[in-house]
Amino acid sequence: MNRFALAAVGLATTFAQPVSADDVKVGLLLPFSGVYASLGNDIEAGFRLGLEEFGADSGATFEVISEDTEVKPPVALAKAKKLILQDQVDVMAGIVSSGVLGALRDVVHAAEVPLIVANAGNDDATGKACSPWITRLSFSNQQVNRPMGSWLHEQGVQKVFTLAPDYAAGHQMIDGFVQGFTDAGGEIVGQEYTPFRKTQDFGPYLAKAKASGADAVYVFYAGGEAISFVKQYDSFGLKADLPLYGAGFLTSPLYVNAEGPAAVGIVAALHYVPTIDSDVNRAFVSAFEEKTGRIPSEYAVHGYDTARAVAEAVKAGAMDRASLGNALRQVSFEGPRGQLSIDPATNNLIQPIYVYETVAADDGLTQKVLAQLPASADPANGCMLSAVVN
Ligand code: BEZ
Repeated sequence: MNRFALAAVGLATTFAQPVSADDVKVGLLLPFSGVYASLGNDIEAGFRLGLEEFGADSGATFEVISEDTEVKPPVALAKAKKLILQDQVDVMAGIVSSGVLGALRDVVHAAEVPLIVANAGNDDATGKACSPWITRLSFSNQQVNRPMGSWLHEQGVQKVFTLAPDYAAGHQMIDGFVQGFTDAGGEIVGQEYTPFRKTQDFGPYLAKAKASGADAVYVFYAGGEAISFVKQYDSFGLKADLPLYGAGFLTSPLYVNAEGPAAVGIVAALHYVPTIDSDVNRAFVSAFEEKTGRIPSEYAVHGYDTARAVAEAVKAGAMDRASLGNALRQVSFEGPRGQLSIDPATNNLIQPIYVYETVAADDGLTQKVLAQLPASADPANGCMLSAVVN
């Protein structure tokens, strides 16, 4: 246990307070600056829309306190301690980066404050470092990429070169893909990890991919790095000979129009695209568009579903941090991305995965769904949750 965790243990017993039935304090921990700032803004927009739609029906009022993590673990730790100790929030939500989630895990666990992960895919948070206080309403890194590995091999791709930023999410996303791809019989002919938040020029890495003898390249990049990578891949002249695939954050609707024609034809896997054909999704897309003037991304849907989960937990009678934590892991509903439920063995979300291609439409770029891959639970990977909660 680290020194923050020790401090938080003491404070958990001193400060944990019952939630007043009519006032729920939510602390949002998101990046509003740095390489993932636009992701944080979209999650918050989705969250506020979700509270508007589902909050009133819960019988409570909600106070939201937002803090900027800047995608930096030490900053996020300080902000989390402020929310827990000074603001005494009933529940925290957010976290975009897997690195930040890894750094906060012990504090959240020891302070006994429910945390809903509204983005960061860090596998360990619902695996070997799981906690009854941490519930995921987003995705896990392996969940998005492993099924894409076998799907890509089924399409006839035999040899792949992989690229990702050098931090927890980059490694876990690529590991998930490699597992699915090699289990299906594929071969990885080269791998590179680029310095996270620091790489401006992907040229040297693209040269290695070109020389590798691969049939295709598979990557994870998100936010500002995704925009730079997709544009440089195209201007390097690789797209025609070496098709680009990836985790679908690469061509998120949040920034695909900034990537422009360079993004057309990229095929990727993700748990949400705004073109999902369902009434629930159509209603969400139109409400979000009306509110913000833009199409919702996967990030917006994480925020929206997170707000719904909090509202449903309160509606089910959750009155304090412990009962909120318990109620959150029991939520189940049909959201914009399909039927959602929480795996009781890990607190991870179970959801379908969509393979989609970015295509040009009259009013910009859009997402054409090519396949829906079945929802499946991640392996518990050392998570002993079922032994500590009932
Ligand atoms: C992550 O660090 O887990 C992450 C960041 C951006 C998009 C997806 C995942």
